[in-house]
Amino acid sequence: MVYYVRYLKPPKWEKKKKGSGYEYYIIALITITNDLGNDFLAEDAELCFTWVRHPQLQIKAQQLDDWEAGSRQLPVIMGPFTANMVGDGEACFKAQVLEIGEDRLKTDKAPLVVAGFSAPFSKSKAAPKLVERQFYVGDERSTRFKIWEETGNSIARHLWDAALASIMFLNDVTKGVDVGMPALNQLLTSPRSSPLQVIELGTGCGMVGIGLTTMIENCEVLLTDMPEAEEIVQRNLDQSKPKANSVAKFQTLDWAEPPSELCDKPLDLILVSDCTYNSDSQPALVSCLERLVRSSPDALILVALKRRHESEAVFFELMATAGFVSQQANVKLPTQHDESDEIQMYSYRRRAE
Ligand SMILES: C[S@@+](CC[C@H](N)C(=O)[O-])C[C@H]1O[C@@H](n2cnc3c(N)ncnc32)[C@H](O)[C@@H]1O
Repeated sequence: MVYYVRYLKPPKWEKKKKGSGYEYYIIALITITNDLGNDFLAEDAELCFTWVRHPQLQIKAQQLDDWEAGSRQLPVIMGPFTANMVGDGEACFKAQVLEIGEDRLKTDKAPLVVAGFSAPFSKSKAAPKLVERQFYVGDERSTRFKIWEETGNSIARHLWDAALASIMFLNDVTKGVDVGMPALNQLLTSPRSSPLQVIELGTGCGMVGIGLTTMIENCEVLLTDMPEAEEIVQRNLDQSKPKANSVAKFQTLDWAEPPSELCDKPLDLILVSDCTYNSDSQPALVSCLERLVRSSPDALILVALKRRHESEAVFFELMATAGFVSQQANVKLPTQHDESDEIQMYSYRRRAE
């Protein structure tokens, strides 16, 4: 289980009277929790806070502080700085675990605590309630992407561990690593004369589909979710840097009523990350998958899930009844006290008649 630096109160400038003038501090309230927000990092960690000039990315100041096991939140007070130093421009703030450095998504190398970058703020403008995650993938620092999520508790506008694991897994697959799913390896490594057609269901912030476009060329990804996800996905699309001839866009799709033009779209790959947590919505999800593969019988479905409770077994039963057969692999994520956690990956395909 990975932990994430979150802003309970996003950073802002606070000024205090000093002699005949003022001095300035960045103040914020952070916490470090798992994706569900119900478990706090329970080991000591040395944190590094960085004030960066926006958009030049010039580091203005850094400060260390300690997260102590048992904490639920940590107030940040960084400063004092003079009015001259602060200026009228915009600032960004980053909170990270010192020893982790950059957040890298690679099998067996994922960060235990994902750093949190604030949105820009200034003396006259507070930072919106958003946090940005910045990742690089595999061994190539050139394969990078950034994903915004909300600081609140929305399920859709939020990142989940299965999305991180999906990126680590897809990176291995695209590099030709044998993950025990030969059809998926072939699909993502064979030369293509036309773009690979991908749809992602329940995309949330868009991390998996957007991440895929930064890893491979010649790939068209349609990110789908309920309408409440659109704004954050669009924000993430606007700053994405896909590889040559790859593109991603968003369209609303409710599993209960998939639009017919999408159901008839030819597809090679369907991505589903952390969408099996609610057994009530599983019949709609499985029937949507069935509907999508009706016109693309060779499409592969890649499902990433974190087993949370027994009721999720209904997904596997429904998929088997619908005639899907699967291959399974596991992706390890770090968790505290040097232990590891597993995200399960299933590659489904329609059973041959
Ligand atoms: C736990 S989140 C996972 C988000 C993202 N895939 C990830 O791994 O970070 C589950 C997602 O499924 C979406 N979802 C739930 N029910 C849905 C439905 N009936 N139709 C479409 N999307 C749905 C939610 O809006 C949410 O974005």
